[in-house]
Amino acid sequence: MASLLLLTSLILHLLSFSESSSSKLVLEEGYTVSTLLDFNKLHYASDGGIHPFSLLPLSNSDDLVLLDSSSSTFYTLSLPSSEDAEARVKVLAGNGKLGFSDGESKDVSFNKPKSFAVDEAGNVYVADRLNYVIRKIDKSGFTTTIAGGKARKIGNTDGPAQNASFSNEFELVYFSKMCSLLVVDRGNNLIRQINLNSKDCTNKSHKSGLGIASISVISILCVLFGSVLGFVARPFLNFRAGSFNQPPAQQDMESIPDQSGESNTDTLLRRQKRNC
Ligand SMILES: *[C@@H]1O[C@H](CO)[C@@H](O)[C@H](O)[C@H]1NC(C)=O
Repeated sequence: MASLLLLTSLILHLLSFSESSSSKLVLEEGYTVSTLLDFNKLHYASDGGIHPFSLLPLSNSDDLVLLDSSSSTFYTLSLPSSEDAEARVKVLAGNGKLGFSDGESKDVSFNKPKSFAVDEAGNVYVADRLNYVIRKIDKSGFTTTIAGGKARKIGNTDGPAQNASFSNEFELVYFSKMCSLLVVDRGNNLIRQINLNSKDCTNKSHKSGLGIASISVISILCVLFGSVLGFVARPFLNFRAGSFNQPPAQQDMESIPDQSGESNTDTLLRRQKRNC
């Protein structure tokens, strides 16, 4: 009887120990969940509906890029600014058909992409894995193929991007520090890098805003400051040149006029001129 009790308490002890060590929870309070957009609602459900798969912010913009993988279509999404306002969802690229076609937004087709990245200039890079390529959508929706376009097969070849090949399981990350697109090539167990155009890695809207406008403001301020300085300093400069009213003690020795009415400095300057 005693040994049974001992065994029971031992088992209970072990159970409680394993429970406490394997499921420690720290429930942090203070967060709230709300629904921002309901794509089950009718006005989003026209044309077969939109099925959000992945979402990323568009750089230097209030908008986001939304991927519907099932219809292989990218959307630009503007979230409502207030409760009553409607979100705006606009096709960025993709005609809803599976395929491999570049060009204008409405002619573009992808093959069920599941990963994309966005650079500083707002270009979207698409891991179009089932086409074995990487695509690029510019801000207007115009789409090109930037890697794998000539290889068009599974592989792990580096080099000129159109001849490069990837596994059928990879994901893209924009890395501004290296101005690159990083390829998490899961199928090949590699992380790979594709250099981007440097203009696509800088915050253009910010730079042009700072450029011409601020340079002209700065130059106007310089001119104004220069004139004000000149105006304020004029009486002082005149006083230095013709300082008859001042007691000699406060005068600079060089500016004491000689009999001809010139200061010593003027005579010196004239001598130097003659010597030239
Ligand atoms: C790239 O691929 C094309 C077409 O397959 C081939 O003609 C070309 O020689 C390749 N270039 C390089 C640098 O491998």
